[in-house]
Amino acid sequence: MFPTVRLRRTRKNERIRDIFSEVSIDKEKMVMPIFVDETISGKQEIQNMPGIYRFSFDYFKNYVSEINDLGVKSVLLFGIPSHKDPTGSAAYDENGIVQRSIEYIKSKTDMITMADLCMCEYTDHGHCGILQGKEVDNDSTLEAYRKIARTYAQAGADIVAPSGMMDGQVGEIREELDYAGFKNTMIMAYSSKFASSLYGPFRDAAQSAPSFGDRRSYQMDFRNSNQAMREIELDIYEGADIVMVKPALFYLDLIERARDRFEMPLAAYNVSGEYAMLMHAVSSGILSKSAISEAITSIFRAGADIVISYFTEEIYRNGI
Ligand code: PBG
Ligand code: ZN
Repeated sequence: MFPTVRLRRTRKNERIRDIFSEVSIDKEKMVMPIFVDETISGKQEIQNMPGIYRFSFDYFKNYVSEINDLGVKSVLLFGIPSHKDPTGSAAYDENGIVQRSIEYIKSKTDMITMADLCMCEYTDHGHCGILQGKEVDNDSTLEAYRKIARTYAQAGADIVAPSGMMDGQVGEIREELDYAGFKNTMIMAYSSKFASSLYGPFRDAAQSAPSFGDRRSYQMDFRNSNQAMREIELDIYEGADIVMVKPALFYLDLIERARDRFEMPLAAYNVSGEYAMLMHAVSSGILSKSAISEAITSIFRAGADIVISYFTEEIYRNGI
């Protein structure tokens, strides 16, 4: 006979639970995405993302000071340009919306400024690169990505974040940045980014849905996990400073696997559809608000070092 092992001792009250807790939401390591929209004045709430807005450049300035005052440590910028064309030329305009936004944040705050590097918001067809026929052409797209990276670095970005899933994008961008003298500009690679239905609300917000076809010839097939490890491994080899798994909640297995396998800073992107699902469930009373901290905690517990989430502002504002 042996005495009952009483793990309930560790759950007796709040203090005791806290000292036994193995992981917590580290808000300093959370990143707030921001949409800056050249086509609107004022701000516009994004459909199905209550509390998340697209900002005109002027309103963006107010928002930056608001979240800076809250203590938010880092942001990830997305731009919606007034001009779209087949080659997404507004993406590498030195006076483009993201470039100006980077400059503004760096001139007013110490926030770590990350900028999403892709073309789907800038092309009139909504694909993440330059077309040849009905296909996205990998290598001419890389040329454009180089130009975007250079203008972001010139504007003062701390981190550029290529999200287009072209082969070789990290290596090409690293080479361009080094060549142009931006040796200290970091790359956060959207390494294992899946073709996911969870980007729906984002695409409405960024007006970046493809006008024909889908993104499955460049973004990953969600049935694949070994290939996700290969994508991450290649990005490390090509010089990424941070690697990412995206989306987060349906892909916790991959976060854990990448954590175990690579000694690399690992980011996870809690995407628009994840935000929408949780917010709808919470605001209609289906789930209690603690579902949000349970979800974000699960991403840290799986092993993410950095969590990009639309909940970041709310967590700074009202705690968790
Ligand atoms: C651009 C990009 C997308 C997201 C981040 N960068 C959309 C897409 O790939 O279609 C999605 C983010 C989100 O859903 O929150 N390629
Ligand atoms: Zn894209």
